[in-house]
Amino acid sequence: MDKLIITGGTQLSGELRISGAKNAALPVLAATLLCEEPVSIGNIPHLHDITTTMQLLGQMGIQLTIDEKMNIEVDSSTITKYEAPYDLVKTMRASILVLGPLLSRFGEANVSLPGGCAIGTRPVDIHIESLIKMGADIKVEAGYIHAKAGRLKGCKLVLEKVTVTGTENLLMAAVLAEGVTVIENAAKEPEVSDLALFLNKMGAKITGIDTDVLTIEGVSKLDAKNIHYDILPDRIETGTYLVAGAITRGKVKLKNTRPDTLDAVLDKLREAGATITTGDDWIELDMYGKRPKAVNIRTAPYPAFPTDMQAQFTAMNSIAEGVGIITETVFENRFMHVQEMQRMGADIQLESNTAICKGSEQLTGAPVMATDLRASASLVLAGLVAKGETLVDRIYHIDRGYDHIEEKLAQLGGTIKRIPK
Ligand code: EPZ
Repeated sequence: MDKLIITGGTQLSGELRISGAKNAALPVLAATLLCEEPVSIGNIPHLHDITTTMQLLGQMGIQLTIDEKMNIEVDSSTITKYEAPYDLVKTMRASILVLGPLLSRFGEANVSLPGGCAIGTRPVDIHIESLIKMGADIKVEAGYIHAKAGRLKGCKLVLEKVTVTGTENLLMAAVLAEGVTVIENAAKEPEVSDLALFLNKMGAKITGIDTDVLTIEGVSKLDAKNIHYDILPDRIETGTYLVAGAITRGKVKLKNTRPDTLDAVLDKLREAGATITTGDDWIELDMYGKRPKAVNIRTAPYPAFPTDMQAQFTAMNSIAEGVGIITETVFENRFMHVQEMQRMGADIQLESNTAICKGSEQLTGAPVMATDLRASASLVLAGLVAKGETLVDRIYHIDRGYDHIEEKLAQLGGTIKRIPK
């Protein structure tokens, strides 16, 4: 397995272009299943999860062509089967996102249950129960979701929890359903809105975008009308590199991003002492020569502080001035980066879903192990500021969600290199 070796001590500085959002690209690619004509999608990030999604669609018989600018053209007219097999789903839980579109367009879907992952049990009960309410016949047998439906029927759905992919699956199910569907307690993450905007560009009738009540008037078919759709910039990649600038007391400017999708994160970076300036599509963070101050974080659904930025702020708190309390309310096991940081000298105490971080003057580089996507990124951040070398193992987690991380950090002056297996 590849490893990353990071030598700490450099203040990051310079400019970086942010890639398209992984968590928008995945549902938008799944949504191409809803349309008979070929669809062109741009600003696709160069990530392993994208490759997996292309394999997932390809093994259904769908034609995909990708160009050097990472534009993907998807033609679902050649589809031959409606299945998401275990061997692909086990590597990427988000494969569940084909369930809604397959059922809505073709009336059939056999999707492996995603199962849990390092950060939690990750159930999909809300996805399944809601599709049954829309008229689907669903059986879960031998690790697979076997779903069949005539034309799904629009109805009112009140989601008992805010679920991002649950909202996305139901949005995609509703666009071709008969009648009107109302999704209450819908997720408001920018990636959900990006999917809704893409669907509307293909002729769907969705209102309430950016709110927690989505109303979808079912149509008989979508029409790509030769559209091209560019994926929204990745707010979590943006936040990760902003923390990289802050933790190393540097100054970074991130371009091709969306500051308006990061209010909670920018507020916390300002509280930590950073000077943040923004334009329509760029953010500059200046923490030059300043030690970050500890901040308290409580994760929750958008627009509150994102759980996908929790590990990165745990890393920053571990070298900050003062004590920072981090409470994780979304997932039940999302502190696995803590024991790895403790091996680097971080003074963090865990009490159920809360991490009490007492900032140390200095961390010490050590061999550490990545456990999940954002935890891996947080260990790289800790390595950037630790004394000596940090070796991060199992970085396939990172490659799932960060486009060329070592090149981007090197562009900002970081000393980091990949050691092939
Ligand atoms: C999405 O996961 C993201 N993944 C995650 O990003 C992100 O952490 C998460 O949303 C929260 O923002 C993608 O978009 C591909 P949820 P998702 O359904 O949709 C419970 C990353 O690092 N729940 O919003 O799977 C669930 O257990 C990844 O990029 C149910 O109980 O998360 C959790 O406690 C990690 N039943 C809460 O809801 C359900 O049917 C939120 O989960 C569905 C969810």
